[in-house]
Amino acid sequence: MLNRQAMNSALEQLAAEDWTLIPDFLDAGEVRDLRAFWETHAADARPAKVSANSALNPDIRGDRILWLEGSEDPAVETLFARLHQWRRKLNEELFLNLHDFEAHLACYPPGARYQAHIDQPRKQGQAEGRRLISMVIYLNPDWSPTDGGELILWADENQNAERARIAPRAGRAALFRSDLVLHEVALARAPRLSIAVWFRRSPPTGIF
Ligand code: OGA
Ligand code: MN
Repeated sequence: MLNRQAMNSALEQLAAEDWTLIPDFLDAGEVRDLRAFWETHAADARPAKVSANSALNPDIRGDRILWLEGSEDPAVETLFARLHQWRRKLNEELFLNLHDFEAHLACYPPGARYQAHIDQPRKQGQAEGRRLISMVIYLNPDWSPTDGGELILWADENQNAERARIAPRAGRAALFRSDLVLHEVALARAPRLSIAVWFRRSPPTGIF
């Protein structure tokens, strides 16, 4: 777990620059336990769609995903407790109204990528859905530079300049604004395991 100062400086960067990297979000034991969880459940993973209503398109997005909600595995419960601490911290420090989160494991087989996208595009200036903050946690202990698979955060819509290029090395977590940051997963040349989390604002209250 991060000390208070490291947590605060990560959140300051997120507020000022719309992204941040947390180097030691998970320790080696937590990574091992979550990888073991994946090994036992990998057969249940399904090819990911680009959006809820769309067809499969492995050229755009080639990962297999497994939603984590409802799991009673201790490794997942430990992770979820940590994520709730972060949710509260994000609310306190960034004056957000994050109500919950959704999370899935994702495995990119060699040759897979995820083309540039925004997780929660805005329509008429308003975010369309409930996702506000994206977090991607990496579970690859032996990642080497030749394995590719970096998370690229683009600085502009035309993909002329990069804000950051983050190798998916074990224990790291990248955080960024779901509605603003264009990003992609570069082609992976080794199996690439990660957990994607979306912190979400409260559901709209029913007004009839
Ligand atoms: C996603 C995504 C990035 C990553 O699942 O929406 O952008 O590094 N993942 O796995
Ligand atoms: Mn994304």
